[in-house]
Amino acid sequence: MIPLRSVLLGCGSYLPAKIVTNADLSEQLDTSDEWITERTGIRQRHIAAEGEVTSDIGLAAARVALERAGIDASDIDLIILATSTPDNTFPASAVTIQAELGITGGAAFDIQAVCSGFVFALATADNFLKAGQYKRALVIGAETFSRILDWEDRSTCVLFGDGGGAVVLEAHKINGAADQPGIIASKLRSDGRYKDKLFVDGGPSSTGTVGHLRMNGREVFRHAVTNISDIIQETLEGTGLTASDIDWFVPHQANKRILDGTARKIGLAPEKIVITVGDHANTSAASIPLALDTAYGDGRLQKGDLVLMEAMGGGFTWGAVLVRW
Ligand code: UT7
Repeated sequence: MIPLRSVLLGCGSYLPAKIVTNADLSEQLDTSDEWITERTGIRQRHIAAEGEVTSDIGLAAARVALERAGIDASDIDLIILATSTPDNTFPASAVTIQAELGITGGAAFDIQAVCSGFVFALATADNFLKAGQYKRALVIGAETFSRILDWEDRSTCVLFGDGGGAVVLEAHKINGAADQPGIIASKLRSDGRYKDKLFVDGGPSSTGTVGHLRMNGREVFRHAVTNISDIIQETLEGTGLTASDIDWFVPHQANKRILDGTARKIGLAPEKIVITVGDHANTSAASIPLALDTAYGDGRLQKGDLVLMEAMGGGFTWGAVLVRW
């Protein structure tokens, strides 16, 4: 029997219109464009308009992805939205997107793995498609982190922004060869011992409030390069591929220094890293599909290219997905 593989048919993204530059922030906070750019590579972030919620952002990205994929919304039978900033505590914002797209069949749910959310959602969708349980999946990462930031805490608020990205996957019968299109391998990890290094200090069951993001940036940084490099090696293991086969490294966009350090550690040429953090800051679960869509839009990403996506975030959670475009 020929096995099923999840093939990426298209991608899309959306950024809210309002841009806040580092210079804008330095007017309200004791910070500077120089500090933010040097430490992180971030130049600006997009901020959702009043009344614009995560499902609006995810929906806008999903519509672009569906159009590029040439797929009718009614043909989607699985929607997974990765987000840590849902519209409401429940229902899942994925069902709002499902309803807006006019889809009444299949399943739609949210996944919460903070900055690793998109990788977790992609791996989950891949497993459902490979098992033959669903045929076509919409995987979305969308966030309104501006709503959970403490805008008086310069050590965190300058780092994040709002945005969304999406991909469409379809189950195809393909033999297991790594030169064929689709998701080749994925690996996910979590280690809850580090849950207090990056968290939100509120929630429905603890404080009854939404809360604000708190981060020990230095500690997160310390673990990031090691965890990410390890998971990349684990993902490549058994595929017959090595880091030198990767055409595009599409990482979670948190800090340019982490991306450069990871690329150095796994031996990837700097020109193979897709870096968009400067344009939209850390958009958590949205950052990988935003970067992917940028590389697609500017023509870097070509059919047959080998793409490695990875992320690390609160939890800690981390993971990687290797895909042939
Ligand atoms: O998405 C996954 C989760 N997030 C991450 O991956 C983020 C990981 N961490 C980082 O990217 C970095 O640790 C940061 C960018 C958050 C911070 O960079 P750093 O080089 O680790 O700086 P630091 O935290 O060691 O702070 C250095 C100094 C401190 O002053 P003192 O104590 O040396 O006097 C901070 O108070 O920079 C100060 N500082 C700032 N100065 C100007 C902190 N934030 C700011 C700011 N503007 N916005």
